[in-house]
Amino acid sequence: MSNINVTINFVHEYFEGDHSGHDFDHMMRVYSLAKEISKKEHDSHFEFTTLLALLHDTLDHKIVNIEEKRPEIWAFIDTLSLADSEKEMLFESIPKVSYSANVPLKELNDSIKIVQDADRIDALGAIGIARAFAYGGYRGQKIAISKDFDPDDYGENQTSVSHFYEKLFKLPETLHTDSAMRIAQKRVHFMQAFLKQMAEEWQGLK
Ligand code: ADP
Ligand code: NI
Repeated sequence: MSNINVTINFVHEYFEGDHSGHDFDHMMRVYSLAKEISKKEHDSHFEFTTLLALLHDTLDHKIVNIEEKRPEIWAFIDTLSLADSEKEMLFESIPKVSYSANVPLKELNDSIKIVQDADRIDALGAIGIARAFAYGGYRGQKIAISKDFDPDDYGENQTSVSHFYEKLFKLPETLHTDSAMRIAQKRVHFMQAFLKQMAEEWQGLK
């Protein structure tokens, strides 16, 4: 079996039962987006980038106990048909993908940049909306409060709608590639239209 297929099977089992929006389907979407961006940007490390996309959330402290899982992830990577230096680079790249890790730009290789872009795109658009509300429910926060819809008063309200303003609408500025930027802009427009409609429905209108 190819490195990619073995890794797809591995993450399928690894993320079984996740309800925080970091499930197997998220990994497959990030993998597809990374493949597309990688081709458009003429990335010369296509296989490495796609493997990193599949594995990018395997060592995220929000989802797993990292210390417990690190040996399992290394043991898996060690079974892949890659040079030792690539195995090490793959293992070291995984924790650098996450938005919350906030790793300085100079420590990011091209593959990490592409996977970061793919991961951030999956937080936008219709899927991004669904994931924000799913994550909010998982964390026990409200859908929204009235202030979230007040253009003069919205802010950090610890609701899923306020997360759109606090983080999601700022994601396009953090992207590394033009290909990702184009997809992100379309998705942000869709989210703005969604919030406009939601603001009207919030007041019982329409
Ligand atoms: P990363 O895994 O890159 O650190 P996050 O785990 O912060 O990114 O985000 C994963 C998903 O959860 C995204 O779709 C994001 O919008 C959503 N999410 C994260 N924090 C919140 C929050 N406070 N409210 C609603 N959604 C959130
Ligand atoms: Ni992710």
